[in-house]
Amino acid sequence: MDRLDPQSVASIVSMLVREKGFLETVFNALDEGILVLGDDQKALYFNRAAREMLGLNAQFAAGDSLKRHLPEPFWSAIEDDRACMKPRAAVHHDVEISYPQRRFLQIYVNTLPADVSPESDLLLIIRDVTEAHRRAVLNAESERIGAVTTLAAGVAHEIGNPLNSLHIYMQLIEREVRHLDPATRKKMEGHLRVCTDEIARLDQIVNQFLKAVRPTRPVLEPHAMNEILMEVIEVLKPEISNRDVLVEKELGRDLPHVWIDRDQMKQVFFNIIRNSLQAMTRGGILHVRTELQADRIVTAIRDTGGGIPPESLQRIFEPYFTTKADGSGLGLMIVERVVREHGGLIEVSSEQGRGTTFRILLPTAEKRVRLLEDESSLHDRREVPA
Ligand SMILES: Nc1ncnc2c1ncn2[C@@H]1O[C@H](COP(=O)(O)OP(=O)(O)OP(=O)(O)O)[C@@H](O)[C@H]1O
Ligand SMILES: [Mg+2]
Repeated sequence: MDRLDPQSVASIVSMLVREKGFLETVFNALDEGILVLGDDQKALYFNRAAREMLGLNAQFAAGDSLKRHLPEPFWSAIEDDRACMKPRAAVHHDVEISYPQRRFLQIYVNTLPADVSPESDLLLIIRDVTEAHRRAVLNAESERIGAVTTLAAGVAHEIGNPLNSLHIYMQLIEREVRHLDPATRKKMEGHLRVCTDEIARLDQIVNQFLKAVRPTRPVLEPHAMNEILMEVIEVLKPEISNRDVLVEKELGRDLPHVWIDRDQMKQVFFNIIRNSLQAMTRGGILHVRTELQADRIVTAIRDTGGGIPPESLQRIFEPYFTTKADGSGLGLMIVERVVREHGGLIEVSSEQGRGTTFRILLPTAEKRVRLLEDESSLHDRREVPA
């Protein structure tokens, strides 16, 4: 350095700065998090992806501690790594973090060559495997559910036939009972009503169950969402008036059609609205609203019922999750499956004591056609020989 004139020093420094800038740009473009970890859980360097994955805020700078950004078991493992890791070795850890959001990270820990870092600094390469993890869990779950439901669907189907015969024989008994003396007749009719109601309930459970476990492919045709929604409300009129519920409608005018399976979509609204009515034990407002947002028809169903506590909110779509004495817990599972098969989305927001809103977002018929066209032109392009 002593032998260099100021101009040469300046040009070397500016070259180094340029090179550093270049490398930083490269590192920041990576999807993997890159982090150099010094002693005392200090971050000596981190790229953009590492900042995002670990939720490091704008004030977080090189030299700050990462202690609260990664869980305790990881830090003990890192100390073990430091103690026993050979030069140029690498180990990997699976880490789950909950801030800034729940993520599953795979962290590869490498030693740095002594000429780069004479201290015991470590190079961490972090991959976000949340999506892969979620898919693996879903696959395992659907396999498990698949096995159980195939068996159960068989049993449920077998229950259907005797239920039918029971229903027919109850009608025959009802006819015979008419010939009895009035006092006995009244008593017997009371008993019979209980039996018939219970059979109807069993029948409904079996049907609901079969619908849930035996998915049928949706037959998609363009339909007016408002019409479907109104038909469902019509069917539920007796329950609505029984519970003294007021229905408020805010239906979008001239909405484009949606590409849906009419019966399946009616089932979706039926299940959601029925839940809303059940949540409003006595009195309340059921607000239904449809509107066009970008390429989607949004249907929002809001109730003024008791709401869903936060710990239940993430479980309501699970099969058999119910808080009702006579619920099957399959209603929303069907809703979720049908909406997913229609390429749609469901959003739920709920406030305890105030009510719940379900929003169903479905692509409009035009959007679907455009998507299909795009897809086929993509295939066309792929088929063009090079
Ligand atoms: N609008 C709502 N307000 C409050 N809680 C709700 C609402 N919708 C759903 N839930 C909660 O979600 C649970 C699951 O709903 P789901 O429709 O899947 O099953 P269920 O209503 O219990 O039974 P089923 O629909 O089979 O009769 C309900 O038991 C209830 O606790
Ligand atoms: Mg329900």
